[in-house]
Formats: sequence, C-alpha cells, structure tokens
Amino acid sequence: MKKFYIATDHAGFEVKDFVKDYVRSLGHEIIDLGPDSADRVDYPDYAKKCAHAVLADKGSFGILICGTGIGISIAANKVPGIRAALCHDAYTAKLTRQHNDANILCFGERVVGRGVIESMIDAFCEAEFEGGRHAGRVEKIEGCSFGADLG
Ligand code: RB5
Repeated sequence: MKKFYIATDHAGFEVKDFVKDYVRSLGHEIIDLGPDSADRVDYPDYAKKCAHAVLADKGSFGILICGTGIGISIAANKVPGIRAALCHDAYTAKLTRQHNDANILCFGERVVGRGVIESMIDAFCEAEFEGGRHAGRVEKIEGCSFGADLG
C-alpha cells in the first residue's frame, strides 16, 4: 500500500474527488490537502503544501493537479528533494518512477481525460525506481538545487 497526499488549484479541483476515489479503490491511502472549494487559489501555495507533506512523510507520494499541470509542477520542483513529474499518459507516469524516482505525479485537469488519469495512476503505483545508472543522475538533480525557498 502506498500513501499519497493530493492538492490542486481551482482548475484541478473538479477532478480531485474522482482521483481520491480511484486511488482508494486500488487500496492506497490518500490525504487531501485542499483546496476545499473551487474558489480561485494560487497553485504555488498548494504545490508547497503537498511537497512539504511528502518530504515530511518518508516513502509517501504526492499528486498535484492544476489546469495544465505545468505551473503546479514547476512550483513543486522548487522544493529540494521533490521530483514532481508532469505526465500525460501511462508511459510517462511509469518511466518517471523507473528512471527519475519521481515522488509527485502532476497532470492537468484540462489536458487529460479520466481514463488516462486512471492509467497514469496505475502506472505510477506499479512502477518502481530502477536505481543503477539512474541513481547517479537523480543524485545530480539534487546537486542542481540551490535551495530555493518558497517562503
Ligand atoms: C489557472 O487558470 C491556471 O493558470 C493553472 O491552473 C495552471 O494551468 C497553471 O499552470
């Protein structure tokens, strides 16, 4: 069983309950970090919340959703130790676990349909980091971080 934290902005809010139900149907745990309504919010605030929750809870993962998935993934990747992957299909979701050891799955509510979302979650949950030649590359990603502070 995996543990997930999920957060969105207003443009990712509508699909949030669907994602939570699907993750739970697979037997995983998922904790909702908001928002609680579709009122306009700023995606960096929710990216930060989820990123910090994932880092504080070793072995957990995150799911971040905004309109395109772009803004919320860019923001989450400012947090050292976070590897937030913007995915569009099962292939990218699988490979980002196997090669990048991604700890947050990001996507855009306005970009992907519900069937694709299910397949991305399946792939992200089933795939494991392969280590080996990928481990050194992932370590280098951490070396690229200059400790950006989101405030
Ligand atoms: C909100 O309108 C939209 O800009 C946001 O959800 C996201 O797509 C940004 O990257």
